[in-house]
Amino acid sequence: MSLELRRIGGVIGAEIPGVDLARDLPAETIAAIRQALLDHLVVFFPGQDLTSAQYRTFATRIGTPIEYPFVPGLDGFPEITPVLKLPEQKVAFGGNWHSDTTYFAEPPMATMLLARELPAHGGDTMFANQYLAYETLSDGMKSILSGLRGVSRSDKAEASRTREDRAGSAGRNREIMIAEHPAVRTHPETGRKALYVNIAHTAYFAGMTEDESLPILRFLWQHQTRPEFTCRFAWSPGALALWDNRCAQHHAINDYDGQKRLMHRITLAGDVPR
Ligand code: SIN
Repeated sequence: MSLELRRIGGVIGAEIPGVDLARDLPAETIAAIRQALLDHLVVFFPGQDLTSAQYRTFATRIGTPIEYPFVPGLDGFPEITPVLKLPEQKVAFGGNWHSDTTYFAEPPMATMLLARELPAHGGDTMFANQYLAYETLSDGMKSILSGLRGVSRSDKAEASRTREDRAGSAGRNREIMIAEHPAVRTHPETGRKALYVNIAHTAYFAGMTEDESLPILRFLWQHQTRPEFTCRFAWSPGALALWDNRCAQHHAINDYDGQKRLMHRITLAGDVPR
């Protein structure tokens, strides 16, 4: 089974037109989508007309949907998180570079985002290839990182401020989640090494102070999002993105103040990074 693929960047990202995700897709098509995800790190399906139930069904064909702890899910669909920015809001959820919820002991392997309502212009999402981010480091830096583990915290200001307005009146969850992961992880399916720190959640290296960690982390945060490692996706109504959190980061671009943007997000269970 081969899918039509249109690459949207030099090193990451491919669009897959002509697949109707509302249908009960054959196992070979699902396998081809999974392979495209491994090859391109993020894939995009334009023009999907999905109910929430159809969206969840497709998600369960790719992995196991999990709930996001800090923003309530949709009624009847707790695994579908609304990612909403209203015209009067200034801060965008996910408006910084990150891999999703690395403060979980088992961070999600992948995330899906479905465009429900879009601004007239702006609101693109960028993605960055973390295999390349690792491979382009010097041997000296690779050697330093091989012994380091990053500590991710859910309350790091870079990320927590982007969801403050969205926790709902219940406050939902004020718990602080902390997890420690290798700074370089080996992808469990491709066997390739990827840089696995991010500015939104990685606070310091285990066994080191913040002051000691930050010079290295600041270099890595800048290096891992170099323009030549990225692609930028311009959303259209009904477009669905599926990205691999194990080897890609993403950044919601907040350039549409005064307009509404509503996306529906599903994250898929992952494993312990090694
Ligand atoms: C996210 O970080 O999950 C949101 C990305 C986006 O809204 O483009």
